[in-house]
Amino acid sequence: MKTINIAVDGPSGAGKSTLARRIAARLGYIYVDTGALYRAIAYDMLQHHAETEQEIAERLPQLRISIAYEDGVQHVLVNGTDVSGRIRTPEVSMGASRVSAIPAVRQFLFALQQQLARDHSVVMDGRDIGTVVLPDADVKIFLTASPEKRAMRRFLELEEKQPGVQTYDEVLADVIRRDEQDMTREISPLRQAEDAVLVDTSDADLEQSEQMLLDVCKEKLKL
Ligand code: DC
Repeated sequence: MKTINIAVDGPSGAGKSTLARRIAARLGYIYVDTGALYRAIAYDMLQHHAETEQEIAERLPQLRISIAYEDGVQHVLVNGTDVSGRIRTPEVSMGASRVSAIPAVRQFLFALQQQLARDHSVVMDGRDIGTVVLPDADVKIFLTASPEKRAMRRFLELEEKQPGVQTYDEVLADVIRRDEQDMTREISPLRQAEDAVLVDTSDADLEQSEQMLLDVCKEKLKL
């Protein structure tokens, strides 16, 4: 049976994960957060002090990355251990941005992402889903918002989980630095696919953004 694939790409803090998860629930598809896969690899590399590109590439064959769902929530496992609760720190965010620029890492995750999309109807969020991983996706959305709005959302999220870890200005500086890293890397840089629909959520709340995305999906899928 042909599965339906929806690709949601965009910079960090644009609301991709929250919105992609909601859209998936509305449509009855599974939600795949590909950033969590890069984060899981970064977490493992930090744990094992693999720092150089060569050290990272050498460790990859020892890793088995898989995902599982509990009440519709994606969990990511490294060699059978659920690391989902440990991959949302600023250190892992930076590490993920760094490891995601390594070709061997991208290649390692490419097959897993394609397999998931072949086996299930998915809403998959990331940076290169519409451009590289699922170039034939049925719907492609490029979700963005201004750096200030994105930084504020990340800041509020962090404050809720770990108050006082970073100031708003530090979060904004990180957002800008990560945008730069993600958009200028040589391999699979973050960019809008030619056939992707641009959705800017700078001035929209969650409900409005969700509706904007659903409208695009319904139109493309003729629902
Ligand atoms: O979406 P996120 O913040 O969890 O992603 C973490 C990092 O992983 C981000 O800096 C870019 C990278 N990434 C990527 O290169 N390609 C993807 N498909 C998803 C994430």
